[in-house]
Amino acid sequence: MEMKKLVLSFSLCLVLISSVVESFEYHEKELETEEGLQGMYDRWRAHHKVTEKSPERFNVFKYNTEYVHNANKMNRQYKLELNAYAGMTHHEFSQTYGSSKIGHYTALSGLRKLRWAGGYQPGAGYSYQNATDIPKSIDWREKNAVTPVKNQGACGSCWAFSAVAAVESINAIRTGQLVRLSEQQLMDCDTSNGACNGGFMCSAFNFIRDHGGLATEESYPYKGEKQTCDKAKFGHHSVTLDGNEYLPLKDEEALLKSVAHQPVAVTVDAVSSMDMMFYKEGVFNGPCGVQMVHGVLAVGYGETPEGLKYWIIKNSWGDHWGEKGYMRLQRGVNLPEGACGINCEPNLPLKSPETRNIEL
Ligand SMILES: *[C@@H]1O[C@H](CO)[C@@H](O)[C@H](O)[C@H]1NC(C)=O
Repeated sequence: MEMKKLVLSFSLCLVLISSVVESFEYHEKELETEEGLQGMYDRWRAHHKVTEKSPERFNVFKYNTEYVHNANKMNRQYKLELNAYAGMTHHEFSQTYGSSKIGHYTALSGLRKLRWAGGYQPGAGYSYQNATDIPKSIDWREKNAVTPVKNQGACGSCWAFSAVAAVESINAIRTGQLVRLSEQQLMDCDTSNGACNGGFMCSAFNFIRDHGGLATEESYPYKGEKQTCDKAKFGHHSVTLDGNEYLPLKDEEALLKSVAHQPVAVTVDAVSSMDMMFYKEGVFNGPCGVQMVHGVLAVGYGETPEGLKYWIIKNSWGDHWGEKGYMRLQRGVNLPEGACGINCEPNLPLKSPETRNIEL
């Protein structure tokens, strides 16, 4: 109970810090003494506007500081930082931010059933399978097809953010209108999913198809907790969809061909190590498993001048995390499931150019 309160009060502070982008810097000397660390803790709290202060949180901060510091001493292709989450334990973070339900369902073999029940047939093909002329790199942000990074707050609603981001993007591509859409409507109304307790992007796309589209964020704003469904919002100021497409599993080419045409909702293992929690910059390649518990959006791909291939991932942890809210995740790894399981559960929202929006 006490732990839960700590997480919640911490998260309230997170809401305030979404405009902080510069990273928190420190001197190695500060790590050598208890006083140095105490001073660092106070500066970190001021930097991230964290009002809470306790010996327990200070211990967590020290533990995380050592972790980040040691990780950055290794000669790796990505760096970590003491971001706004440095006062949370890895367990608290995972419970709060990584909850697409998908890892859990895979463990119970339920996801496969869900895919099959949803009409998926292995080998049945997908929209972009015959596409040729796949560009060497693409970044949908540069094509005005990606809304600014959002923050899910202390609620396991990543599935809604991933699904909504995918719909915002395909709508921008089909209509030229980049409009922010409503996660809250999915959280309140799509009872096949679990609001703050996780959900599935595939069923969200079908829900949108079946309920008069997805409302704008302006008409149905985010509250960060489940509320009563406002049914009067269905079918007004909405982006409509034709449903969901399951991409083939563990098929990187399918993901590449699809991302070349539209951003794709994917899941990644964001919780099996602390590295994603504290990711700062670079091409992320690890430690990571394939627990697909976090829903995000692949908005492009590319290659560094050194030849490292990557996916561009839009996250929903605010723009203070990672590369202004984004992460570059290694692509072309020698694993069918891809880095952090990115090839394990890709879905895309279907919207034909003829599918007209309502009052937009
Ligand atoms: C792609 O080509 C194959 C072989 O010609 C065909 O069977 C399939 O329907 C095509 N897929 C799409 C989505 O057009």
